[in-house]
Amino acid sequence: MISYIGGKARIGKWIVPFIPKDIETYCEPFSGMFWVFFNMDLKKYPNLKTVVYNDFNGLNANLLDCCNDYDRLWEELNHYPCQQLGIEDTPTEYVEMFNRFQQEVFHNDITITEENKFEVAAKYVYVLTQIFSGSKPETSSYTDYKGKYRCKVLIFMDKLKHPKYREHFDKITFVENLDFQEVIEKYDSDKTYFYVDPPYWKTENYYSNHDFDREDHERLSECLKSMTGMFSLSYYDFPLLNDWFPAEDYIWEKKKFAKAAAAKSGVKQNMGEELLIMNYGENKYMNPNEGVQLDLFGEVSLKPDNKIVENEKPLKIKGNINVGLETNHIYCGDTVEEMKKIEDKSIQLILTSPPYLASIRKDNHKYPGAKDQIKDNQSIREYLDWMIDIFKQYERILKDDGVIAFNFSYTTFNPSLPFFLINEVFENTGLEIYDTLTWKKKSCLPLSGHPNRLTRIAELVFIFAKKPDFYANKRVTKISKTGQKYFTTYYNLLEAKNNDGKVDGHDATFSTEFASFFINLYSNINDIILDNFSGTGTTAHAASVLDRQYIGIDLVEKYCDFARKRLKSLNDTIGYLFTNNNQ
Ligand SMILES: C[S@@+](CC[C@H](N)C(=O)[O-])C[C@H]1O[C@@H](n2cnc3c(N)ncnc32)[C@H](O)[C@@H]1O
Repeated sequence: MISYIGGKARIGKWIVPFIPKDIETYCEPFSGMFWVFFNMDLKKYPNLKTVVYNDFNGLNANLLDCCNDYDRLWEELNHYPCQQLGIEDTPTEYVEMFNRFQQEVFHNDITITEENKFEVAAKYVYVLTQIFSGSKPETSSYTDYKGKYRCKVLIFMDKLKHPKYREHFDKITFVENLDFQEVIEKYDSDKTYFYVDPPYWKTENYYSNHDFDREDHERLSECLKSMTGMFSLSYYDFPLLNDWFPAEDYIWEKKKFAKAAAAKSGVKQNMGEELLIMNYGENKYMNPNEGVQLDLFGEVSLKPDNKIVENEKPLKIKGNINVGLETNHIYCGDTVEEMKKIEDKSIQLILTSPPYLASIRKDNHKYPGAKDQIKDNQSIREYLDWMIDIFKQYERILKDDGVIAFNFSYTTFNPSLPFFLINEVFENTGLEIYDTLTWKKKSCLPLSGHPNRLTRIAELVFIFAKKPDFYANKRVTKISKTGQKYFTTYYNLLEAKNNDGKVDGHDATFSTEFASFFINLYSNINDIILDNFSGTGTTAHAASVLDRQYIGIDLVEKYCDFARKRLKSLNDTIGYLFTNNNQ
């Protein structure tokens, strides 16, 4: 991510294929800049629930912790001017600023607090990116690139906005600042994999803020030999290694690389042989020559206006899954009948918005393209009976830790309906509501014809689940000394676009921005997301962009066709199917 001594930038791609695919916890006891993790294509680890960053260096741990709030860190970095590509004369203030930051971060006995953590992280990034290859940041001097390269601060800031990096930042569950032994003992299990990249034998003095001596290497070897989980250990070979990890008992893999750590500017790099020692068999990993890894480390592509390209081509999910209905299809049919085909406990997230019984006025049908098919003007009792059938199916097909994010609203004519509906769900299923979120839209038509009713710019989303410990992607941001955990904050107020553009014949769609919030929070890559009222396919579209599997169901052929076309060519579709109306 940033050059850093011992960073696995070059060899990350070699190491990743050795990581077993069925792990549930990934932990690096010596994470540094977490290169190997950033090289992992997360789709390939379908069971991965917990990712642990650990570094004994508190500045590193703080930086990775702050990366989770990427926008805030980006803003913090944006305060500081830096060298510019094409401008040869670097202002002396930049060097002064660098010196000041270096003093503050490394020599002023800094205490990292909730108040200053982003400032410290930004200053640390500034220092790390302005020195040669990240080595000895506490004493190295400023490198003036004389306008030859794009500033590395800006490259780092691009990464904070890049969707693939964000996907990785979002996946980090715990950021720890512990001794390696403590972190190994804390997260060890038969489903845990540790990528272990200690300071190399006799290069220990290259690292900042701590020493790593022979006793530590021995302590590490003892710790690895007695663990329950799987590990791969990186070293350059040295005589004692074969005593600690005999080649008969452990798998040894070797590869030659240019040594970066010892390199100096302008000096030819030495070749070194990287060694990877593993305590699990070859059946656990794929042939390292197979498969292509993500390339996260080139410069990210920029549009001419210097804005990061966010909407890049979606990553393809490997293979559809058959759960009675096959994923990544839109099914045209009645919602209850189609859901009956889905296997029990197979869906992680149901994200949907049903007809709201809002077409009572004949001149205001919400589905002008399908007035005859959609009975959005039945009696309240009939409507509620239909909803009971739907929720019974939900209860059956939802995974035990799954979530139903049910977007619902009311009209001037049926304002109590949401509450009747909830009552019916409680009486007829075992589902509970665990949160109620307000979706504030960007705009709405004012209800100016009414003397006393409010203009409805917000709608509700009810979060139903089977049990209180349903799955959410919130990560631990801090653990207090007493063991109390603190998690990422998500508010129950979401401001998101009304829809993705005006669609002829359908006046009741939501937006990809809206759908992405729930998909990101309540599911993981490759999980199955169902929208049983899929309309124009917004949920399926967002799921696809976020590398989830989707199933869409809608009664109306015309809407299904629209959704299928939209999904077929995801990138082009937004351009040609939608007008530019962001209502
Ligand atoms: C509020 S819209 C959902 C719009 C969708 N979220 C979107 O962004 O396009 C409700 C959808 O339910 C569909 N629908 C109504 N009755 C249905 C039924 N019995 N079975 C399946 N779909 C139905 C309608 O065709 C409509 O597209």
